[in-house]
Amino acid sequence: MSHSYDRGLVEDFGRWREFTAGMWAWIFHKFTGWILVGYLFTHIAVLSTAIPGAAGETVNDVNVYTYTIQELESLLLVRVMEVGLLAVAVFHILNGIRLLMVDLGIGLDAQDRSFYLSLVLTAVIAVASVPTFLEGML
Ligand code: HEM
Repeated sequence: MSHSYDRGLVEDFGRWREFTAGMWAWIFHKFTGWILVGYLFTHIAVLSTAIPGAAGETVNDVNVYTYTIQELESLLLVRVMEVGLLAVAVFHILNGIRLLMVDLGIGLDAQDRSFYLSLVLTAVIAVASVPTFLEGML
């Protein structure tokens, strides 16, 4: 079966006001993809400069690496951002699998529902991770 969709005019900039599941899926996928790339570079930069010898010496007889991790993990903001990172990664993976299915022509009539399912599953997994990520903080 072949489908065709009327996507309207790209030039009509007022269209951001109209809600479509596909538009938000596209925006969320782009944002989450680039957030993951940004995190990856930050992650490598932080950890590679925390290796003893790379940045210098040990701090108070504690290994610089362990010290860096412990200090970061002691911050509530970092713990909250870890939950956010998980949510971003989970959404990108679930929506990514959804996009691959669309590319294969599977479930084309359920595109909106599978987007909502991705959002719901992401929310459930992120909420379920809170006790782990915020352990000892609250
Ligand atoms: C199982 C894991 C993943 C899956 C299934 C997945 C899936 C996808 C798919 C299907 C696309 C293309 C979307 C399109 O058709 O336009 C895409 C885009 C992208 N992904 Fe992933 N991805 C995964 C992991 C990652 C990771 C780990 C990163 C970053 C480190 C990442 C970064 C990106 C970026 C930057 C884009 C391009 C976004 C854009 O500008 O359109 N992805 N992903």
